[in-house]
Amino acid sequence: MKTVTLLFPLTQVLSTQAFQLLVSSYKSENTTVGALQTLEYSSGKNTSGLRITHTNTDCGSSPSWLELSSDGNTVTCINEGDPGSLTLLDVQCDGSLKMLSNTSTLGGPVSGSFFNNGSAIGLAHYGPVPGVSTFTITSNKTYIPLQNLTAPFANLSSVDPERQKTSHVHQALVDPTGQYMLFPDLGADLIHVYCINASTAQLSAHTPLKSEPGSGPRHAVFWQPTQPAANRTTYLFVVHELSNTIASYAVTYLSPSGLAFDPVDQVSTFGPTAAPRGAAAGEILISPDNAFVLASNRLAPLFHVPNPDPRNATALQSDSLVTFAPSATGSLRFVQLVASGGLGPRHFSLRGDGAMVAVANQGSASVVVYERDQGTGEIGREVVRASGVGAGGVTNVRWLRG
Ligand SMILES: *[C@@H]1O[C@H](CO)[C@@H](O)[C@H](O)[C@H]1NC(C)=O
Ligand SMILES: *[C@@H]1O[C@H](CO)[C@@H](O)[C@H](O)[C@H]1NC(C)=O
Ligand SMILES: *[C@@H]1O[C@H](CO)[C@@H](O)[C@H](O)[C@H]1NC(C)=O
Ligand SMILES: *[C@@H]1O[C@H](CO)[C@@H](O)[C@H](O)[C@H]1NC(C)=O
Ligand SMILES: *[C@@H]1O[C@H](CO)[C@@H](O)[C@H](O)[C@H]1NC(C)=O
Ligand SMILES: *[C@@H]1O[C@H](CO)[C@@H](O)[C@H](O)[C@H]1NC(C)=O
Ligand SMILES: *[C@@H]1O[C@H](CO)[C@@H](O)[C@H](O)[C@H]1NC(C)=O
Ligand SMILES: *[C@@H]1O[C@H](CO)[C@@H](O)[C@H](O)[C@H]1NC(C)=O
Ligand SMILES: *[C@@H]1O[C@H](CO)[C@@H](O)[C@H](O)[C@H]1NC(C)=O
Ligand SMILES: *[C@@H]1O[C@H](CO)[C@@H](O)[C@H](O)[C@H]1NC(C)=O
Repeated sequence: MKTVTLLFPLTQVLSTQAFQLLVSSYKSENTTVGALQTLEYSSGKNTSGLRITHTNTDCGSSPSWLELSSDGNTVTCINEGDPGSLTLLDVQCDGSLKMLSNTSTLGGPVSGSFFNNGSAIGLAHYGPVPGVSTFTITSNKTYIPLQNLTAPFANLSSVDPERQKTSHVHQALVDPTGQYMLFPDLGADLIHVYCINASTAQLSAHTPLKSEPGSGPRHAVFWQPTQPAANRTTYLFVVHELSNTIASYAVTYLSPSGLAFDPVDQVSTFGPTAAPRGAAAGEILISPDNAFVLASNRLAPLFHVPNPDPRNATALQSDSLVTFAPSATGSLRFVQLVASGGLGPRHFSLRGDGAMVAVANQGSASVVVYERDQGTGEIGREVVRASGVGAGGVTNVRWLRG
């Protein structure tokens, strides 16, 4: 009896500790293709760390973004090359990838989001020709071009002489009702709003959200308070790459269509710490339990972390991750500013249970996994790291089947 009660929790610990990550990276100066790499961690007595188990090079020169299907069985890789591509791959049981189809797109796509229940995808094109494009997905797993929208972005710009000479569409995201797709535009200080036609998947433009001049909206997330369910306001949290702020807006659904945004709060992505010069906020996401919003800070290393080489006493410089707790009225309470484990955390993902965060540090070619307290939202001890990942700069990290 005693053996059984002891073995059960042990098995649980082991199964929660083994995991696989999928990481995309750009080509390096010496390669013509970027990479999709599967990283595997298995704990236990014989731990060999976070190892690269598979490498796939089907996604062209500049894999910039990964989107997993809702069942986790396929991954769509977005290639930022010119032309760009949408490479659809099957995720095999062992974590390796098998290409199903490859479709050319307008140049420079940096993010994408499925819409219409996973039957279509919208892409954000940073440039050289800024714009938005959409595709439908056939039952034979091929993307069919639907719309290329570049004219509305052709003459947009804003105040920053370096980064805002032209529009730079940076992300595609869908609202909680699935009726609207938003595209933060770093170069134009706008968040473009499109209505989705549920039967044709066509996008049509609505009045955009105007951001603060010079702020550079990069990515955004929708959020709805869990309580009270009866009177649930929808909020939009926008992370700005140039001003290093997160703005919170209350969203109103207009009749017959369109969205209105009322600013309710704005915080620094460094919380109470002064934002260093040159900082460039990166990613934003909501924790799986809906209780926290997290963002990353790049190009402004405030931290040091131990060198992974035990013979090397020189600490590594590190950028940061910040956590806030949103209130039911959309205000953001600072929780923690902590090391990302390396330079340039362009992307990070929480495991499905929120107990770990995996960070893609673009400037350090590293992927670092930290423990996270689901109750307080605080990021803690380093679990494991992989160095020397990617061909030339890791761009996106996802948890496979977990
Ligand atoms: C590319 O090749 C050059 C010459 O062999 C070498 O010095 C450099 O370190 C290589 N760069 C990378 C990223 O491997
Ligand atoms: C530990 O795992 C490595 C890699 O799989 C293997 O080569 C080695 O033999 C294992 N060591 C033990 C003691 O099992
Ligand atoms: C997929 O398409 C892109 C863009 O045309 C190209 O660069 C890449 O090589 C293609 N991948 C394969 C495996 O053909
Ligand atoms: C969405 O897609 C899933 C899986 O393809 C399907 O089971 C479900 O019925 C669809 N829902 C709607 C509303 O179309
Ligand atoms: C997939 O379906 C599309 C449209 O139905 C068709 O044009 C295309 O040739 C098909 N591709 C393959 C590989 O069968
Ligand atoms: C959009 O442009 C790409 C790249 O030129 C092209 O392959 C695709 O067919 C175009 N889509 C539409 C809907 O015309
Ligand atoms: C962009 O501006 C140029 C010059 O003013 C004008 O000729 C062109 O029509 C504009 N394009 C769009 C799509 O508005
Ligand atoms: C969606 O497109 C169809 C076909 O063009 C059209 O009949 C319908 O009115 C559109 N729906 C909306 C809500 O615009
Ligand atoms: C519902 O939300 C609105 C808008 O935030 C607020 O004005 C109103 O007081 C709320 N009603 C209740 C019953 O909480
Ligand atoms: C020790 O680590 C630092 C920081 O990464 C690095 O610059 C240095 O080259 C390393 N020294 C040795 C001897 O490997």
